[in-house]
Amino acid sequence: MEPDVPSGAAAVGETAPKRLFIKTYGCQMNVYDSERMADVLRPLGYSLADAAEGADLVVLNTCHIRERAAEKVYSEIGRMRELRDERLEAGGPRMTIAVAGCVAQAEGAEIMNRAPAVDLVVGPQAYHQLPELIARVSRAKGERLAADFAPENKFDALPTARHVGGPAAFLTVQEGCDKFCTFCVVPYTRGAEYSRPASAILAEAESLAAQGVREVTLLGQNVNAYAGQGSDGRHSDGTWSLARLIRRLAEIQGLDRIRYTTSHPRDMGEDLVLAHAEVEALAPYLHLPVQSGSDRVLKAMNRGHTADHYVRLVERVRAARPDIALSGDFIVGFPGETDADFEATLSLIEQVRYASAFSFKYSSRPGTPAAAMPRQVDEAVKSERLARLQAVLAAQTSAFNAVTVGRRLPVLFEKLGRQDGQLIGRSPYLQAVWAEAPASMIGEIVQVDITAQGPNSLTGSLADSLANALAGASADTPVRPRTEASA
Ligand code: SAH
Ligand code: SF4
Ligand code: F3S
Repeated sequence: MEPDVPSGAAAVGETAPKRLFIKTYGCQMNVYDSERMADVLRPLGYSLADAAEGADLVVLNTCHIRERAAEKVYSEIGRMRELRDERLEAGGPRMTIAVAGCVAQAEGAEIMNRAPAVDLVVGPQAYHQLPELIARVSRAKGERLAADFAPENKFDALPTARHVGGPAAFLTVQEGCDKFCTFCVVPYTRGAEYSRPASAILAEAESLAAQGVREVTLLGQNVNAYAGQGSDGRHSDGTWSLARLIRRLAEIQGLDRIRYTTSHPRDMGEDLVLAHAEVEALAPYLHLPVQSGSDRVLKAMNRGHTADHYVRLVERVRAARPDIALSGDFIVGFPGETDADFEATLSLIEQVRYASAFSFKYSSRPGTPAAAMPRQVDEAVKSERLARLQAVLAAQTSAFNAVTVGRRLPVLFEKLGRQDGQLIGRSPYLQAVWAEAPASMIGEIVQVDITAQGPNSLTGSLADSLANALAGASADTPVRPRTEASA
């Protein structure tokens, strides 16, 4: 894109304070991207607003993964247009409406045609160009759609400094996907697999730790396929795997918890499994989607592995870290899925025993191979299967949580709870934990006695001050939970 920006419009913008509202849909990578868009726009005078009302710029950061997700965008654009009109009628300044994210990438031109209220469209690999696009809108001149694929340009153009809101942060290390599962739009919306160089990731992580971030979740559509150019600080050092990157990140002072998501079963290397046994900072949690327990369906999905491969992989991970909390993604009603295929999925779930899971009805996506497959499954059958699957998974989550009741766990407090005097945080297993605690403990890892479980969270009370003093109330809480936590 030609550099037609920083002349007039952007320079004026640098001095005038403006309000930015970003609405984020979809996965964690979109959450990360939204934060980075705010970082890109901050030098132009934009500060974050909590609501669209009164915002000068609204960004809808969209998701294309299922039909429902994509449809939401158009109704939200309509709502923004109404807000803009009301504001103009009241004599206020004009609100700029931008559509970003995966729908922008997949349907950019269509959005421009179908929704003239939209001022600009920017894909996930082009949001570093937002200042240029905004300048073009204000000049009413030039292309207002940017959807090219070049993640290295994007990452190179983003500021190293991050502004984060709490002690847990996302950090994208890998983006894009070459797997082409037949149901999935991601390879088309996020482009080919790309791994950021280790030095850039380490610099970003250092900046996060310096701001008090204690937990970092490394993100990638196939994060365990990470293969980035390594660095020992000064010299290039071959290609690093995710395991090597994690070991190096674990050395950063203050970063006490490291997580990563989402992993593909085909890329789960032995060194990563071993890291779960050896790296204290690596949290005992693994999101490892399998989608189906039927080999026939897995093949039609182009997942590139069998159910047995997955179950054996889980056994290896559990051998390395017996208490690990396993999580997965499931799709029911993939084209051609029979009752027997579905039963195979239930039986895999029984074998694996998940701590948490996400499950979806198959949604036909334009342009994907599965959309053209014969024997699409009835909506009613999909609904029935989803309900059965979710009942089994909910029981497993409850069983996992039950094992942690009565135990003492290190909890990273992230923010104020709903009730006065209460904080909410996360256990190492990513369980939400509520406890009465002073606000000064936000950002600390504190020993909490778990007293009860609810449907989606745990309740606890602060362990006595001696226990917390012994644990340093923070850093290397060397809690090696007992193995029955994997129940
Ligand atoms: N890269 C990750 C998943 C990214 S999408 C992986 O390979 O596992 C997140 C989840 O959305 C997927 O795991 C899948 O369960 C679900 N999903 C993706 N496309 C879908 C579709 N067309 N219909 C229903 N669910 C879908
Ligand atoms: Fe989609 Fe499959 Fe790639 Fe995951 S691995 S992003 S499900 S194509
Ligand atoms: Fe959705 Fe794009 Fe993430 S399609 S799930 S926002 S990668």
